[in-house]
Amino acid sequence: MINKCLFPVAGYGTRFLPSTKAMPKEMLPIVNKPLIQYGVQEAMEAGMRQIAFVTGRSKRAIEDHFDRTYELEDQISGTKAEHNLAEIRHLMQTCTFSYTRQVQMKGLGDAIRTGETLIGNQPFGVVLADDLCLGDDQPVLTQMVNIYRKYQCSIVGIEEVAHEDTEKYGIIAGKALEERLFMVDAMVEKPAASEAPSNLAIIGRYILTPDIFEVLRTLPPGRNGEIQITDALNIQAKNKMVLGYQFKGHRFDCGSLDGFVAATNYFFQRMGSSGNGG
Ligand code: UTP
Repeated sequence: MINKCLFPVAGYGTRFLPSTKAMPKEMLPIVNKPLIQYGVQEAMEAGMRQIAFVTGRSKRAIEDHFDRTYELEDQISGTKAEHNLAEIRHLMQTCTFSYTRQVQMKGLGDAIRTGETLIGNQPFGVVLADDLCLGDDQPVLTQMVNIYRKYQCSIVGIEEVAHEDTEKYGIIAGKALEERLFMVDAMVEKPAASEAPSNLAIIGRYILTPDIFEVLRTLPPGRNGEIQITDALNIQAKNKMVLGYQFKGHRFDCGSLDGFVAATNYFFQRMGSSGNGG
């Protein structure tokens, strides 16, 4: 029902410098698999087979990752190493990949607006690949598609964070609608704990209805002079409805050093018990 998923990957990844000087943050590996591949896998499992990237300079490695590598594949054909490519080959057979560039880093809202040419007039998923999510029974994006089926409006993935961490996230104010589901009244970008309306933080999973593009086109810069997706969602929440969905599962914030190391340890241990990173 939702065919397309947008991956904004144009950010500089300054917290991982110098690694990200010439290499995209999204290509950093959690054990043997780059962050972006975990994200694309999640989108594919949610039925989103048209993968759209908003890229920037120094991001070519992402395009190459989702393409054939003839020499290498020829070399390892029939060897033990070949099975390491099984998963990415399956992704490449199942999905299509398209790319556009964000010319200036004017914020996540601007990156999403730039993706309009690839998305068009239909609802779509958004994945920020540095949030690596593990769903309990189902992948997080699949859980969100199920909510979309019922409510047909924009949905933000949310989780409870420690009060002292609200200043790192967009935080929602809202009313409980169902178990784990909130009708969003407002979103505040990175509030201090004393000003935060709740401790429900927006994480890097969204389902957006296409009218968001119209809002983004005329939206003035917000916090830090950036076009903020939360400002656009606030307008949608006033005009229509936006839901916050507290997903079932766990998120690793791989955009931070702590979260990156925690994810690495987790997947390495899992690999030890199952023979692959899964
Ligand atoms: P972040 O706030 O994590 O920024 O962006 P960043 O540049 O990736 O990392 P740091 O903070 O400098 O270490 C959140 C998401 O939005 C994308 C990023 O690629 C990331 O997936 N983004 C952000 C863009 O695509 N364009 C922008 O102008 C800003």
